[in-house]
Amino acid sequence: MNSSNRTHRTAEHSDLESIWTLFKDVLFLDSFSPQLIEEKLFTNPAPNRQTHETLLSLDGGQLVGIMQVVRRPADRKGWIGLFGVRASDQRIGVATELLDQAIGIFRREKIEEVEVLAIPGNYFTPGIDPRYTPAICFLEKRGFQRFRDCVNLVGRLDEPFDTSADIERLEAAGLEIRRAIASDGPLLDAYFLREFGDDWRMEAGLALASDPPALHLALKNGAVVAFSAHSTQNREWGFFGPMGTSPETRGLGIGRVLLHLCLNDLRDAGHKSAVIPWVGPIPFYSHHAGCTVDRVFWRYRLHLT
Ligand SMILES: CC(C)(COP(=O)(O)OP(=O)(O)OC[C@H]1O[C@@H](n2cnc3c(N)ncnc32)[C@H](O)[C@@H]1OP(=O)(O)O)[C@@H](O)C(=O)NCCC(=O)NCCS
Repeated sequence: MNSSNRTHRTAEHSDLESIWTLFKDVLFLDSFSPQLIEEKLFTNPAPNRQTHETLLSLDGGQLVGIMQVVRRPADRKGWIGLFGVRASDQRIGVATELLDQAIGIFRREKIEEVEVLAIPGNYFTPGIDPRYTPAICFLEKRGFQRFRDCVNLVGRLDEPFDTSADIERLEAAGLEIRRAIASDGPLLDAYFLREFGDDWRMEAGLALASDPPALHLALKNGAVVAFSAHSTQNREWGFFGPMGTSPETRGLGIGRVLLHLCLNDLRDAGHKSAVIPWVGPIPFYSHHAGCTVDRVFWRYRLHLT
C-alpha cells in the first residue's frame, strides 16, 4: 500500500467506536472505556481559549490512523493529543502523514511550540510512557525533544482517612474547611486570578460542576486559601487533582486534610485506588496517603519557529 490509497478527514462523533477499537488494540498499557476516549477527543474544557480536532487516516473506508491536534493560538502553543496507527498498518508512513497535516495546521495558526499529550485539563497521560517505544522513536525522528519526565502515583483506598481531628485543629486556628458549593464561582475566580491561573481555574470549574462538587476548600476570613479537586477528567481511573495551598498558609496541614477529603470521596464512589497524576511533590503524597510511583512519562516538545 502507498499513501495514495489513504484518505484523510476530521473525526466525527459517529467515529467513536472505531477510534476506541483502534486505541484499545494499540495502547496495550492502558485500559479505558469509549466514554473516556470520547472525553479526550470530543470535549474541550477551554473552548474560549483552545480549539481541537482529531485527524483520521482511512484506507478503503477502514480506520488506520488517528491523531488529535489541539492549539491555543493566543499562547502560540499546540499539542499532539492521542495518536495511534492500526497494528497491521504501522511503519508505512501513516503517522508521518498525520503529523505532516498537524504541523500544517500549527504553522497556519502560527503555533511556536508543540507538546505531546499534556493537554491542560484533558490529558490521557501527561507524556509518553516510554514503553510505547515506537512512539518515542517516531517523535524523535520528527525532531521532538524530550525535555522532562513526570510520574503518576497510585494510592490505595482500602480504609477511609479520618479527617475530624485535623479539621477541628484547623477550625480552631480560624480556618474553614468545606466542600465547595455551586455559588462559590466568584470566590474561585478571585483565588485563581491571584494564585494558580486560568488552567487550574478551569479544572476547579469542572470539579465544581460534579454532583456533589468534587472540590474541597480551605477558607480564611471568607477567602479561599487552598483547594483540592478530583474527578475533573478520566473519572474511571479515580483521578485526583489538582490541588494547591497559598504560600502563606503552607505547612499547617491544610493540604493533607484536603487530600484526604478527596481520597475519601473517591473511595465512597467505589474506587479501590486513586491516580495522582503529573506529580509534583512525591514525598507529600507518599507521607500522607502512602502513594507510590506507578507510571513514568517522558515529555516531548517541538519548536516550530
Ligand atoms: C507510534 C506510531 C503511531 C507510529 O505510527 P506509524 O504509522 O507506524 O509511523 P510511521 O510509519 O509514520 O513511522 C515514521 C518513523 O517513525 C519511526 N518509527 C515508527 N515506528 C517505529 C518502530 N516500531 N521502531 C522504531 N522506529 C519507529 C521510524 O523512524 C519511522 O520511519 P522509518 O520507517 O522510515 O524508519 C505507532 O507505532 C503506534 O500506533 N503505536 C501505538 C500507539 C502509541 O504508542 N501512541 C502514543 C501514545 S498516545
